[in-house]
Amino acid sequence: MYTVFSDRKRSIISVPVTDSTNTDIKNIIKESKKPLFTVLTADRQKNGRGRLGRSFLSPEGGLYFSVSFPLTGRETNIPLLTLLAGLAVNEAIEELTGVKTLIKWPNDIYLNNKKLCGILTELVTFRGLTAVVGIGINLTAEDFPEEIRGIATSFLREGITPPDKGELIKKITEILDRLVYEEYSLYNVNKNITEALRERSYSLGKTVSYTLAGEKITGTVTDIRNTGAAVITLPDGKEKEIFCGEII
Ligand code: BTN
Repeated sequence: MYTVFSDRKRSIISVPVTDSTNTDIKNIIKESKKPLFTVLTADRQKNGRGRLGRSFLSPEGGLYFSVSFPLTGRETNIPLLTLLAGLAVNEAIEELTGVKTLIKWPNDIYLNNKKLCGILTELVTFRGLTAVVGIGINLTAEDFPEEIRGIATSFLREGITPPDKGELIKKITEILDRLVYEEYSLYNVNKNITEALRERSYSLGKTVSYTLAGEKITGTVTDIRNTGAAVITLPDGKEKEIFCGEII
């Protein structure tokens, strides 16, 4: 492990290869005696993890990193963190490449109708509460395994010059720190966030299915609320608010 650079708040640790940057940073947090503002990145992951126990393919040529967010334990809306991370990824990519990406609620970033990036937020309860936000972005992958070829993409596949990895990590982290600690709050309902989430939503207006309490529902995503919840309107006009899980 070696420290690449450090800024006002965060140290950035870079390793050539690891199993999972989320797992590593969780172990570092458990070894630390004080709240840690750390970023950990790897050139490739041998056991990259996605949501719902899935694996996240992480060969060389992608950007894989995890950011720790020490919390107070009094936050009432921690799931919003994943959406704030999505907004930070979109804003950073647009600043560095001019390309507009969108959030497929709640944790994927889409470019030209395909998945460019996945976000996995996990919590560590050890000497207080720390959130870990793991972000994986496909930069220069030329191809994907057959099972995800139709749904995954990279900057290179879309004919876009990928941003510099170091610049992208720095920009995403700076924006995310600003969103979490200055602009929005994990403590209460945010009056101003709906506009940003609607503006960047891939899911809004799409017909989706979702499993709610064991029952599959199908409807249209009609809103993203200030809490970060997605609203699915059913064919009979009834609205269902969903806070986590996966819409298909
Ligand atoms: C998903 O698509 O379900 C989320 C994927 C999250 C992948 C990132 S890569 C960096 C960090 N380390 C991991 O093992 N997972 C996250």
